[in-house]
Amino acid sequence: MKKIAIMTSGGDAPGMNAAIRAVVRSALHYGMEVYGIYEGYRGLCEGRIEPLDRKHVSRIINRGGTILGSARYKEFERLPVQEAAAKRLKDEGIEGVVVIGGDGSYRGALALHRQGIQTVGLPGTIDNDIDSTDYTIGFYTALETAMEAIDRLRDTSFSHARCSVVEVMGRHCGDLALYAGIAVGSEFIITPETGYDEERIVQELISAHQRKKRHAIIVVTEKLTNVHTLADRISQDTPFEARATVLGHIQRGGSPVAFDRVMAIEMGEHAVALLHAGNGGQVVGLKAMEIVNYPIEEALEMVKPIPNKRYGFAGRLREKRS
Ligand code: F6P
Repeated sequence: MKKIAIMTSGGDAPGMNAAIRAVVRSALHYGMEVYGIYEGYRGLCEGRIEPLDRKHVSRIINRGGTILGSARYKEFERLPVQEAAAKRLKDEGIEGVVVIGGDGSYRGALALHRQGIQTVGLPGTIDNDIDSTDYTIGFYTALETAMEAIDRLRDTSFSHARCSVVEVMGRHCGDLALYAGIAVGSEFIITPETGYDEERIVQELISAHQRKKRHAIIVVTEKLTNVHTLADRISQDTPFEARATVLGHIQRGGSPVAFDRVMAIEMGEHAVALLHAGNGGQVVGLKAMEIVNYPIEEALEMVKPIPNKRYGFAGRLREKRS
């Protein structure tokens, strides 16, 4: 393989740049030419493809976001759009593409692969919702950011004897809330996996207050409820005055933590080795601390086993407080 390209797609995540750098430098090491596709699948369809060399990726290892830009592009689900994109790549002589993103980006990579382009997917999302890897690039950085923010909320929550309701991201996956909640010692962790029971939260806060608890932290995955409405209900129906905070896109930015950088670099190098060996149609993951790869179809069918430790711990937390 002589020419490959790299793109980032979907929500950006800290560590994507470290992966881009690793892909570019590994490809150059193998004597391949590397191209950057800007703005994800939309940019691919619009022909936003430029050569990348060593200098394009210098001093980006520590930068958040993605130097290539990213986009969510629903149109890529359509077959004619996929065919046109594959043709464009073939016309440029690009035989392989590394796509960094989430499940949607993997489906795009599979579509391109079916059109004769060798593709490799890397898991890049703060949500940790990709089943073919234990951890996604960006998750630990977002977790660190959420943890630091909630630590700060705890200071003021304690001073004013309040209840802080904190919404974190994660889409349909509770990992950010779960890990952040454990890391800050929150009183409640509410995720898609634990389910949402407002009545129970109210009752438990009342009994926590009776046990002389001065303040409380509730960490909630986004989309489960309106945290402002929940805070109003708590202020009204429990002895705690409550405040809600939505951490939002703050969680997506910032310099990647060491874990995300190292994992991104190892995954990037692995992706290029796969393409160099002509072994496309794969995604890369980290399983039991080993870098692994699976065929994309298989990866999209996988269901992450829920380790007892993680959800068992959350379960115990919930039981203890019931
Ligand atoms: O997938 C990453 C993520 O940050 C989710 O946690 C969140 O639901 C979504 O993206 C937000 O998307 P957008 O940046 O398009 O508003």
